[in-house]
Amino acid sequence: MSITLKPTQPQFFAEISGIDLAQPLKAADRDAIQAAIDRYAVVVFHDQKLSDDQQIEFAGHFGPIHSSAQKARHRGIKHRLARDEIADISNLDGDSNVLEENSKRRLDWLANRLWHTDASFRAVPGALSMLYAHVVPPEGGDTEFADLRAAYDALPETRKHELEGLIAEHSIWHSRGQLGVTKYTPEEIASLPPVPQRVVRTHPGSKRKTLYVAAHASHIIGMPIADGRLLLLDLIEHATQPRFVHAHTWKQGDLVIWDNRCTMHRARPFDTTQVRDLRRVTTRDVASTLEQAA
Ligand code: OGA
Ligand code: MN
Repeated sequence: MSITLKPTQPQFFAEISGIDLAQPLKAADRDAIQAAIDRYAVVVFHDQKLSDDQQIEFAGHFGPIHSSAQKARHRGIKHRLARDEIADISNLDGDSNVLEENSKRRLDWLANRLWHTDASFRAVPGALSMLYAHVVPPEGGDTEFADLRAAYDALPETRKHELEGLIAEHSIWHSRGQLGVTKYTPEEIASLPPVPQRVVRTHPGSKRKTLYVAAHASHIIGMPIADGRLLLLDLIEHATQPRFVHAHTWKQGDLVIWDNRCTMHRARPFDTTQVRDLRRVTTRDVASTLEQAA
């Protein structure tokens, strides 16, 4: 059986069926999935059964993988999962107990509730994120996605013109700081210094222009902080109008792939005393956005 594509909207969010991702990936299927990601930016596979190793193996067909090894933010805590390529997006601690309300990892993880794009705070940011659901809570805990290419297209021409050449500074500490989560060690803070990223970029897979903004973006370089921050807030507000947003309601066995280069996403609330075990693998972009097409 060959793979079938069911778009949710003409250019955003598609469901793919007819493939078992735990099996070796055929070149033609890889190419079809890549083409679907390039066009729709977010794709969903249901009813998959993937070990951590299989999830990493699958992701490796789409680019080099971001690893958490050697990252100061991950030192000194007990890890639940063995592989450094997997980001633990669950609300579980190293012993698989639900995180305590004030635990450092829980407070850090809550920043996923802000609209963001993964790893824009790294010089070479994230490309594709692949999030797989092992355990889903009984209610809540959707993930929402915003289409930043459609949002860019809908901007007035004068605004598009104003945005030309603008560069924002992104920092993970800015997104955490918005939630009052600031208790990081000097070593942690030094390990992830702020980085510049373009506000508008060309999405490599589709050659369409897209906004590139996130909760990590703190201000615009060369503009008073307050003006830049207001501009970024306006752009995020514009891009997250319901007409650009699609919510994914998780079922166990779902794998969702999104392209961080042209989308934002955020987690929605759920009862965090209930287990939600999602695990993510993210591929690396090829370079800083400053070294890629505007
Ligand atoms: C992520 C993320 C949102 C969620 O995995 O990068 O932001 O709903 N997840 O867990
Ligand atoms: Mn994320």
